[in-house]
Amino acid sequence: MTTTLALDGGAPTLPDSPQLQWPRLTPAHHDAVHKLLDAAELSYYGREGEAERLENQWRTRLGGAHTLAVSSGTAALHSAFYALGAEPGTEVICPTNTFLATVMPLIQTGATPVLADAEDDTGNIDPASIKNAITDKTVGIVVTHLWGHPCDMDAITAIAREHNLWIVEDCSHAHGATYSGREVGSIGDAAAISFQSAKLVFAGQGGLFAAREREVFERAVLLGHFRVRAKQDVTSDLGRYASTGFGLNYRMHPVSAALARVSTEQMDDLIQQRQAKLNRLTERLSQIPGLRTPVTRPGCDRGAYYGYKLRLSGDWLDVPMKTLVSALQAEGLDIHQPGSAPLHTTEFFQDAIVPVFTNSEVPRRQYQRGDFPVAEAVWSQSLSLPTFTFEDEAPLVEAYADAFEKIASHLGSLRDRA
Ligand SMILES: Cc1ncc(COP(=O)(O)O)c(C=O)c1O
Repeated sequence: MTTTLALDGGAPTLPDSPQLQWPRLTPAHHDAVHKLLDAAELSYYGREGEAERLENQWRTRLGGAHTLAVSSGTAALHSAFYALGAEPGTEVICPTNTFLATVMPLIQTGATPVLADAEDDTGNIDPASIKNAITDKTVGIVVTHLWGHPCDMDAITAIAREHNLWIVEDCSHAHGATYSGREVGSIGDAAAISFQSAKLVFAGQGGLFAAREREVFERAVLLGHFRVRAKQDVTSDLGRYASTGFGLNYRMHPVSAALARVSTEQMDDLIQQRQAKLNRLTERLSQIPGLRTPVTRPGCDRGAYYGYKLRLSGDWLDVPMKTLVSALQAEGLDIHQPGSAPLHTTEFFQDAIVPVFTNSEVPRRQYQRGDFPVAEAVWSQSLSLPTFTFEDEAPLVEAYADAFEKIASHLGSLRDRA
């Protein structure tokens, strides 16, 4: 067998560069959608149908939380911030290392996002950095259970209690993940989950909002669900506003709700399948010096394990990332650098003025590169691999590990040509 790099004309490890397919729809997905189409059930106003079934599934999973199907994970995050009291003059501490939607809906509430650094091993928001970011304007903390790994919720909850702050959990990467035996989304005051197509539970587009307190739930209902639903669910004095709501339509499409409901039925099985493949990948890759495979801390379970991020160290860091990615892609691997750069390195958080509103300044802290060195290192030293799930992908796991072994034996030549 030749060991010449594919980049240099050798045989690629995976000659056909197979395209991984996600999501895969099952007959149950097709049946559920066809039923809706046959009945022309394409909209709704109350607590009913597939959206209600989905809400009930997640209410059970999240320990009896009040759940609300919404049009996206972003809508769920906006609902959470709004309902908990993010408003002009307040600050909310957020991870810099997350997808933009964890943070950006805050801008629409008028609250100021204050960013915090990451932990070196999980990439999650660092409790020590949260502590440093607290001011007398801080009202809450949002955390992302990044790539499925739960945040350090004991430490974060202790900080929140001490300073009287609420916690929003962004569980978009971590469907079914657990921390000390509790499913993520049931630990903080509110939770947001994306069911966008790449997620384990997929709706196409859709999300779920969950709240521990009834009052918080009712405010979220009023934000995005006027009239019938608001009349059914807003039982406090706020019910007097049910006929208008507070301005948005965040209802999830019934077809999306049906897809997510079926996926939720299948999720525990899919999680098991995915974890088996990714644990095997870790077993193989952790044998290769310089590759830091994803950690899972004691007491944590990664659940849906959205995204497999491989951290580089040692000799691997001597090769420019671009060269490394090209060499791996030439071997037929679907590999790239993680898409979401830390938020403090983006234009929005670096520019002096951002024209979100035409006549007033957006409340925002300004940051620069270097402000959060751990998050920057986690991002710039990581590679994104596919999250293999299905039995027919098991051979790919071995091929990916073979390709990394091959590249490992060529690191010197890759470094020298740069
Ligand atoms: C961590 C995180 N939060 C929120 C979202 C937003 O979800 P949606 O696309 O459903 O609005 C995503 C989507 O990828 C995400 O990864």
